[in-house]
Amino acid sequence: MEDRYGHRISYLRVSITDRCNERCTYCMPRELQEWLPREDVLTYEETLRLVRIAAELGVSKVRITGGEPLTRRDVLTFFQELRSVPGINDIGISTNGTLLARRSANGLTTAQALRLAAVNSVNVSLDTLEREVYAAITGRDFLPQVLEGIDAAIAAGFPLIKLNCVLMRGRNEDQFVPLIQYAAARNLILRFIELMPVSTSDVLSDDNFLPVAEARRNLESHFGPLIPEPGFRTNGPSTYYKIPGREQRIGFIGALTNLHFCESCNKLRLTCDGKIRPCLGSYLEFDIMKVLRAGATDADLKRFFLDVVERKPEQHDFRENYQPGRMMVAIGG
Ligand code: 5AD
Ligand code: SF4
Repeated sequence: MEDRYGHRISYLRVSITDRCNERCTYCMPRELQEWLPREDVLTYEETLRLVRIAAELGVSKVRITGGEPLTRRDVLTFFQELRSVPGINDIGISTNGTLLARRSANGLTTAQALRLAAVNSVNVSLDTLEREVYAAITGRDFLPQVLEGIDAAIAAGFPLIKLNCVLMRGRNEDQFVPLIQYAAARNLILRFIELMPVSTSDVLSDDNFLPVAEARRNLESHFGPLIPEPGFRTNGPSTYYKIPGREQRIGFIGALTNLHFCESCNKLRLTCDGKIRPCLGSYLEFDIMKVLRAGATDADLKRFFLDVVERKPEQHDFRENYQPGRMMVAIGG
């Protein structure tokens, strides 16, 4: 699948639930929201069918997101089935980490079970190492569980574990260096992400926005000039640097300020309620659940994917004051 701008689509991000056990201010509004009714969420069977179709069209990498994907029932069975979809050879998960250390009846941690199901990359959100700040950002006092979860992921032996830190002026600026030290001690890749306007919450004000260039300058005043690593890519829009004198890599995701951000976009998103979104930062979404449930054949679904890709925008609309109409938790990071 290739769009009008030469983007080759090889990566599908799949949200399997809008539910989450946390309440991050940048992802969800504070007031209680209604979850989607079960019947409006794609079944695992439907999701797997769409992944198979996408794989037949050239998708080889899938990342499972939410909400918090590990809150969905029987999620480990879903991952086991995902690994047997022909053509999918790279499976990742984005998680808040709270449930990775949980043990099931067989004694395995969730992290171990995911690794056994051939998941090879785990992204864990971690904006701070201060318990109180963590609770203020996420609405839940789960930092200890998250740190245990990260340890469980390390113990499970994933080839790639990344930590994601959303940059928030006035909230976690003092945490960037401690997070780098934390990541260094565990040999993990840490990425700093610019706050994107995808929630309805107050933290999305200009006051909280902190551009990646400024974060980089702050870090350089501490570590010395960071060394660009233009050749290092992990399938996403992050640009990587090495810390001088170390092997450690850190990434920056400048969705708003990096003008070349969309140039190498290789992604489509499938929301848990069965919409394909060709771009996170655009209103566009296409209801594939409707055609699927109306009895579409595989050929129909393939055509649907190709039509969406044909409409994939050249770049996102964040800079044009995009308000997504949907919260991040419903789109899936
Ligand atoms: N801006 C930037 N990143 C966000 N995430 C969730 N909401 C936002 C936002 N508004 C991040 C989470 C997680 C990843 C899936 O997306 O921190 O790491
Ligand atoms: Fe949940 Fe992740 Fe959204 Fe936080 S960012 S509320 S952990 S889905």
